[in-house]
Amino acid sequence: MSELQQEYQQLKDEIRYHRYRYYVLNNPVVSDYEFDKKMGRLEEIEREHPDWIAPDSPSQRAGAEPLDKFEKVEHPAPILSLGNAFSPQDLRDWFDRIARLDDRVSNADFTIEPKLDGLTVVLLYRNGIFIQGATRGNGEIGEDITENLRTINALPLHIPVKKDGPQVPEVLVVRGEALITKADFEALNQRLEEEGKKTYLNPRNTAAGSLRQLDSRVTAQRPLTILVYAIVHSENGDIPSTQWETLNYLKGLGFPVAESSQYCQNLDEAIKICQETNPEQFPFEIDGMVIKINDLDLANDLGVVGKDPRGAIAYKFPAEEVTTRLDDIRVNVGRTGVITPYAVLEAVEIGGVIVRQATLHNFDFIKDKDIRIGDRVLVKRAGEVIPYVIGPIEDVRTGDEAPYTPPETCPSCGEPIVNPEGEVAFYCTNNACPAQLVRNLEHFVSRGAMDIVGLGISTVEQLVEEDLIKDIADLYTLKKQDLLNLEGFGEKKTDNLLMAIQESKSQPLYRLITGLGIRGVGEVAAQDLADRYKDLDVLKKASKTEIESLEGFGPNIAESVVEWFENEENQLILQKLKEIGLWPVAEKEEKAGPQPLEGLTFVVTGTLPSLSRTEVKDLIESHGGKVTGNISGNTSYLVLGEDPGSKYGQAQKRGVPIISEDDLKTLIEKGS
Ligand code: IVH
Repeated sequence: MSELQQEYQQLKDEIRYHRYRYYVLNNPVVSDYEFDKKMGRLEEIEREHPDWIAPDSPSQRAGAEPLDKFEKVEHPAPILSLGNAFSPQDLRDWFDRIARLDDRVSNADFTIEPKLDGLTVVLLYRNGIFIQGATRGNGEIGEDITENLRTINALPLHIPVKKDGPQVPEVLVVRGEALITKADFEALNQRLEEEGKKTYLNPRNTAAGSLRQLDSRVTAQRPLTILVYAIVHSENGDIPSTQWETLNYLKGLGFPVAESSQYCQNLDEAIKICQETNPEQFPFEIDGMVIKINDLDLANDLGVVGKDPRGAIAYKFPAEEVTTRLDDIRVNVGRTGVITPYAVLEAVEIGGVIVRQATLHNFDFIKDKDIRIGDRVLVKRAGEVIPYVIGPIEDVRTGDEAPYTPPETCPSCGEPIVNPEGEVAFYCTNNACPAQLVRNLEHFVSRGAMDIVGLGISTVEQLVEEDLIKDIADLYTLKKQDLLNLEGFGEKKTDNLLMAIQESKSQPLYRLITGLGIRGVGEVAAQDLADRYKDLDVLKKASKTEIESLEGFGPNIAESVVEWFENEENQLILQKLKEIGLWPVAEKEEKAGPQPLEGLTFVVTGTLPSLSRTEVKDLIESHGGKVTGNISGNTSYLVLGEDPGSKYGQAQKRGVPIISEDDLKTLIEKGS
C-alpha cells in the first residue's frame, strides 16, 4: 500500500469513528472544524483517485443520481408486524394465550422497547459493508431504497470488526426504523417557515416521504436518523439467542439502538413500565411500547398469527393524531368582530373523545397549507387543548376536493368582512353585528366578569335574536314581560334572572372593567386599572402614556384602552350604565384580618386547579399580597397552573420561585 493509500484508509477509519461519536452516541470528541478538515482531505484524495472510492466511503452520503423507479427486493425472511394491546389486561390476556401454547412462557423474561413511529427499513450487510436497504413493502417484498438510506448519518456504511469485539456474520440483515427526531423536525419546519416555504405535517410523514424520494440528494437534505432493534437473518457467524443480547450486540457493532430499551424479569415489570411511560419524554415520536419475549428460540417456536408474531406485542398509547375527512369550513364571529374559521369534520375518536370540529387557526393557515374541503386532514388533540387541524394529506387527493375562499360578508349580519393590510385577522366591520353582541354579552356575564348566574349562552342568543338588547347596558332595563315571552322562561326563572342582573350592580369596578371586553384587558389588567383609577370617568380621561406607565401595561393594551373609551358607541354605553346606577367606585378599604402576604408580589400563569383568575387575585390581595401581570425584579412568586404562558419561562430564567395553588394556600395558612 502506498503512503497515500494508507493515509486515505486511516482518514476513512477516523471519519467513520467521529461520525459514530457524533450521530450515534451524540458525544463527539473533535470539533466540527477538525472534522470538516478531515473530510476535505478525504475528498481531495478521492478527486485524485476516483477509482478508490468504495460504497462505504464517508463521502458517499450526499445522494446519488436520481432513479427512474425503485427496484424490488425480496426479504430473506418475512418482515412481520405486531399485534396491539390497549390496556394492561390486554397484555395479561396475551400472556395467558401464549402460556397455554408453551410451558416455557410462564417463566419467560422480556424486553421492553419504545415503539418507534417511523418507517421500517431492512438493512443488508455483507462482510460488514452496507450493501442494500429496503422498505418493508408487503412484508415479503420491499423496495430498494439503498441510496436514500446511505444518506442517513447514523447508519453505519461499514461495521468495523474489532479484534476483541463481536464478530460480524458474513451476511447480516438488520431491521430498524428510520425517523426524524422532534427537535430536528421543529428546526426543519422553522427554517422552512423563515424561508416562506410550506412546512411539514409531522415527523413520521416527513420521514416516510423523504425515503420515497427517487432523488437521494433530496433525501440527504432531510434530518433522518435510524434506530435498529432486530436481526432478520444472518449467514456464517454467531448471533445472540436473546432479544436483550441482540440489542447490546447491535449496539456493540456501532448501530444506533434506543437507549430506553429495558430488560424485564417478568410481565408485571413490563406492564409497570408501560403504565409509567410518558411518550413526551422521548426525543422522537413513539406510539407505544413493544414487549418481546426475550428468548428468541421460544419466540420463534410460538409462531405467528397472520402477520403478527405471537412472541411480541405492542402496547399502544392513546393516539393524539388521527386523520379524518374535512366536510366543511365554517366561521365564528368573535367578540371584537374577528372572524375565525373552523373545521367541520367527519366524527372521529381521538384519545377517547369524539371530535367533530377543530380549529383552523386563521385564513392564512388554510391558504398556506392549501386545505381544501373534502380533504383528508390530520387532526391533533393533546391534553385539554382544543383539537386543531395540522394539514391535509395531499397524497390521497381524488381531485374532488374544493379549494376554499374566505367569506366576503359576515355570516351573522351580512355586512362586509375586511382583512386590514398586514394583518392576519379578518373582521366584521359592523359594530352592531348580532354575533359580536352575543359574544360580548357572554363575556360580560361570565364568571370572571359580572358573574350573572342563570344567563347562559342560549338565553343571551334569544335576547339578541328577539332584539331585546342592543348592548350590555340594556340587560339592566329588561322587563319581566320581555323575559316571560321567551321560550323556557317561567315566573320563577324570570324573577331569579332579573334579581341576579340587579345584584350584579354591586360588583366591584375591576369586574365591570373586565366585562367591557376591551381588547387585551383581562382580569389581571382590569384589577390593575381599578387599583389606579377610582371609576370609569377617571379612567376615561387617562392618556395612553399614563396607562403605559403602569406596571405590566405595554403600548398595545394602553392604546386599546384609550381607543375603547374614545369610541362613540362605547361612550353611549357608559352614559347608560351611569343612568341605571351601574357605576362602581373603587374604595381603598382598610385591609381587615391577618396579612401574611404583606410585601409579596405574585404573578399567576396557567389554569389553576380550583381558583379562577379573579378568585386567586382576591385571595392574594385579601391577605396583603399584590398581583401583577408580568415577571419583574419585584416578583416574589410565580403561581403556576396548567398550560402556562411565557411567564413560566421568564420566571425560570430570572430564578423567581415557582409555586402551586396549594403552596400559595400553605403560605397563607402558615403566615397567619
Ligand atoms: S418488532 C417480530 N420493535 O411497529 C418483530 N417493531 O406496529 C416485529 N416498530 O412493523 C416488530 N418500533 O415497524 C418492533 N421496537 C420495535 C419497534 C417496532 C417500531 C414498528 C415496526 C412494526 C410496527 C408494528
